Amino acid sequence: MHHHREPASKGPPATEALESRVQGILSRMTLAEKVGQLTLVNGHGGHIPEELKTALREGRVGSVLNEVDVGTVNELQRIAVQESRLGIPLLVGRDVIHGFKTVFPLPLGQAASWNPEVVRRGARVGALEAASAGINWTFAPMVDIGRDPRWGRVAECLGEDPYLSGVLAAAMVRGFQGEDLSRKGHIAACAKHFAGYGASEAGRDYNTTNIPEIELRNVHLPPFKAAVDAGVATLMTSFSDLNGVPASANALLLTRILREEWGFDGFVVSDWESIPQLAVHGLTADARESAREAANAGLDVDMAGHAYADHLESLVAEGGVTPERLDALVANVLRIKFRLGLFEDPFTNPADFPAIANEEHLRAARQAALESAVLLKNEERTLPLDGASLASLAVIGPLADDGYEQLGTWVFDGDPTYSRTPLQAIREAVGDSVDIQYVRALETSRSRNREGFAEAKAAAAHADAVLLFLGEEAILSGEAHCRADIRLPGAQEALIHELAETGTPLILVLMAGRPLALEGVAHQVGAILCGWHGGTMAGPALADLLFGVESPSGKLPATFPRVTGQIPIYYAHKNTGKPSTPGSFVHIDDIPPGAPQHSVGGTSFHLDAGYTPLFPFGHGLSYATFEYANIRTSRETVEIGESIAISADVTNTGDREAEEVVQLYVRDPVATVTRPVRELKGFRKVRIGAGETLAVTFELHTDDLAFHGRDMRLASEPGLFHAWIGGSSEASLRTEFEVVSPATRRESDLQHSSEDV
Ligand code: NOJ
Repeated sequence: MHHHREPASKGPPATEALESRVQGILSRMTLAEKVGQLTLVNGHGGHIPEELKTALREGRVGSVLNEVDVGTVNELQRIAVQESRLGIPLLVGRDVIHGFKTVFPLPLGQAASWNPEVVRRGARVGALEAASAGINWTFAPMVDIGRDPRWGRVAECLGEDPYLSGVLAAAMVRGFQGEDLSRKGHIAACAKHFAGYGASEAGRDYNTTNIPEIELRNVHLPPFKAAVDAGVATLMTSFSDLNGVPASANALLLTRILREEWGFDGFVVSDWESIPQLAVHGLTADARESAREAANAGLDVDMAGHAYADHLESLVAEGGVTPERLDALVANVLRIKFRLGLFEDPFTNPADFPAIANEEHLRAARQAALESAVLLKNEERTLPLDGASLASLAVIGPLADDGYEQLGTWVFDGDPTYSRTPLQAIREAVGDSVDIQYVRALETSRSRNREGFAEAKAAAAHADAVLLFLGEEAILSGEAHCRADIRLPGAQEALIHELAETGTPLILVLMAGRPLALEGVAHQVGAILCGWHGGTMAGPALADLLFGVESPSGKLPATFPRVTGQIPIYYAHKNTGKPSTPGSFVHIDDIPPGAPQHSVGGTSFHLDAGYTPLFPFGHGLSYATFEYANIRTSRETVEIGESIAISADVTNTGDREAEEVVQLYVRDPVATVTRPVRELKGFRKVRIGAGETLAVTFELHTDDLAFHGRDMRLASEPGLFHAWIGGSSEASLRTEFEVVSPATRRESDLQHSSEDV
């Protein structure tokens, strides 16, 4: 996508040569120098204190984070390479989560594009801009499964589904790292937070998680596996306690699964001070024990915790950590430094890189914002607006014209001066032909002060349509920013109620870092377009959608509950023994006074919320309409180890060309452990012309149906499967197929079993 020529490869050593270089350095290192490679320290904002210079010269620091001034980064590298005994270059890390200066939609928003290419390109642009500042390592992708929208960090994740998250995580890794990590502009990625962080109790950040191993393996680990398979260079441990052993000391995760089962050969970094925090969790008595437990569990690098720096050397000397263990940790780090080509050239010349926020980067950000927006509701074609027949438009809300808030969380380097806001873009789109009344109405998304309502109401009353830019400011999601009530905060619901009284059609444009509980207002607006925090180019992208230049093509990567109390509510739930159905639940208002309790019970629902979400996973409307028909399989049975093709015809029954995300879901209705009612197994974003029909085929291998069973082993089981193809997780077009054991095996199995009898 880039016009400039990327500098040629500096040539990373091939595997064998690489290992001998790693061992070569290791054999020359002192204990202190080894511990240095496992030490990641914070930067000082463009300044290098004497103490840090000394530590670098003595080889006591292996990597630095949060230093983004290229001159400073080059000087740090120079000291490390030229003034330390062994001249080992530094890793320079930064949270480049959804862009650097050019900000892309939140990861959750990018996931709503269901387009791996959009995600890959976003990471590519972020990598190029960050690398021009000397950064060679980012702390992304975040692949925690987000099934609790109270948790502020759902903004950073790729949604609630293991498969979608895995596909997009792999795309993000490819974007950051490219094919060849040693090329300039390619930076090491970091899949985080390993593992289970998304299950934090009550959606409260850093909280405890208790995840049965089978659930861990079937739900939380697959996106990490996908990142590892895509070649991710590093992983970061979670802050959280996993079943009594915090992730940073969890050998099941760090050694058995990651190294022994998956064969990962990069390195694992702790989260910020998560090693000394092992003592706060109550797993260890002090930082020294924490360092020992973390190292022995297989945690390679200590982020800002000083526990390794302070204690690892003496732990090795005294036998608490073996020299072999220490060497293994160090080798993991050196391997990545070699792969990055840092030993060949650790320095950065910004002139080698395309300009920050250049036209191409902005175009990519705009396309990402466009594909990320999800049209949740569109009654009687409220959208798109017809610029030609509109006389006046009211643009209302605290998020309509705020170039900072639209960037969302994790934008340390994001530059709001590049932002194009919705109000600016709407003005540009309609020119002088439409009278635009802009009223902020609320100071912030949290404001309760209703002084601005009267002006907003007057503007709405005189307009042909109202565009309401509501939701959450950037600071209401992200790390340590969780909410116990995920309705629109402040007086925003009240504002919608007031404006609804005018009778003017209301269009709610959501800008938020999480799914919100919209039951209280959804019925009062004609359309809802969810733009998340769309980044630098959110404005023009949203304007294109609102005025119909483009049709929405995003689909929800996470369920929107009706009310907060339904959480966790996600599409791939288990059936239970008493699943609810449309006729089987009772609404709280329909219970007669003095109603008796029956011993037969009922079904699984909430009296005050039913059992369905407001908007399901995979949902997203378009300005076209799509009909699904003729679902078919290439065969009726498929042997374990083989593939089956499942197809359907998708017809655009609308009056314009548009994109649709065609989704394949599967259910294993009878298995040795209960399985989800549906699981996403494939998706494809396709463009279909008005009136045209496209046959969409998914190849499904029986490995794609495998799951971890009672013995934790990954296996496919024979039996009947259901499959659906459609435009959301509620797709109704269904077929069946049967998975069978390979014929030869089956016969011999039969013989054996009869002989046994
Ligand atoms: C803590 C966060 O949990 C992690 O995601 C981030 O990468 C580090 N801080 C570094 O900023």
